[in-house]
Amino acid sequence: MPISLKDQVALIVGASSGIGRATAVLLARDGARVMASARRAERLQELKDSLAAEGHAVEIHAADARDAAAMAELADATRQKLGPIDILVYATGTNTPDRSMKRLRPPIWDELIRTNLDGAFYAAHAVIEGMRERGGGHLVFISSISGRAPDASGPAYQASKHGLIGLAHAIRLEEKENGIRTTVVNPGLVDTELMEKRPVKPTAEQLAVALLPEHVAEAVLACLKLPPRAVIPELTIVPSAM
Ligand SMILES: NC(=O)c1ccc[n+]([C@@H]2O[C@H](COP(=O)([O-])OP(=O)(O)OC[C@H]3O[C@@H](n4cnc5c(N)ncnc54)[C@H](OP(=O)(O)O)[C@@H]3O)[C@@H](O)[C@H]2O)c1
Repeated sequence: MPISLKDQVALIVGASSGIGRATAVLLARDGARVMASARRAERLQELKDSLAAEGHAVEIHAADARDAAAMAELADATRQKLGPIDILVYATGTNTPDRSMKRLRPPIWDELIRTNLDGAFYAAHAVIEGMRERGGGHLVFISSISGRAPDASGPAYQASKHGLIGLAHAIRLEEKENGIRTTVVNPGLVDTELMEKRPVKPTAEQLAVALLPEHVAEAVLACLKLPPRAVIPELTIVPSAM
C-alpha cells in the first residue's frame, strides 16, 4: 500500500512553473508540508495563494539554484519554518534556442550546466547531511530522456542531463546505507514553458499528445509513496502516443 506523505517536509526547487509546480500542488494535496522555491517570487506567491484557496498552506522562498549559498539558505529556511527535510525534488531546468553546436557559446553552456546540474548538487548538498543524521530521506531529480539517448535538445542540455543522471545514481549508491533513497525521473515531451526556449516550437498536434506537468508529478508522487524498503532508482515517462 502506498505510504502517506502527510506531514513529510518537502522542498521543491523549480516550483514556479511546469513539473515542479505540479509536484508542489500534488504534494500539498497529499498533506506534505511544502516549501516551494524558484527565482520568480510572484509566481511562487500565486502558487501559495491558489493552494491556500484549497485549504493547503505552503511556504515559499525565492532563490537562485545556481548559487550554492542560496541553496544552503533555502534549506535552512525550510528547516526553520517546517522542520527537518524529508524530500527534495529538483525540478529546475532550462534550455536555449541557441542550442546547436553552431550557436552554443561558453556563457550559454555555463548557464545550462549551472542551472541543470550544478544547482542539483548544491540543493542535494544542502539537505543531505540532515537526512543522513536522521537516517532517512528521498531525493528526486528531474532529468530527461535527453540524458539517455541523443536527440535535438543540444549538446549543453544533453551533457547536463547525462550528468544529472550520473549524480543521482552516484548519490544513491553512497547514501543508501544511510537510509536515503534517490530517484531520477526522465520525462519525454511535456507541455510546459520550457517549450518557449526551443528554436522551433512543437506543433499543436505534438502538444496535443505531449505529457502534462501533472502526469510527471503523479510519477514523482508514486516514487515518493513507496514504502522505505523500496526505491525506483530511475524512471522514464513518455507520452503514450509518441
Ligand atoms: N518540458 C519538457 O518537455 C521536459 C522534458 C524532459 C525533462 N524536462 C525537465 O523538467 C524540469 C522542469 O522543467 P519544465 O518543463 O517544468 O519547465 P518550466 O516550466 O520552464 O520549469 C522550470 C523551473 O525551473 C526554475 N528555474 C530555472 N532556472 C532556475 C534557477 N536558476 N534557480 C531556480 N529555479 C530555476 C523555473 O523557475 P524560475 O524561472 O522562476 O526560477 C521553473 O520553476 C527541467 O529540468 C527540464 O529540463 C522537461
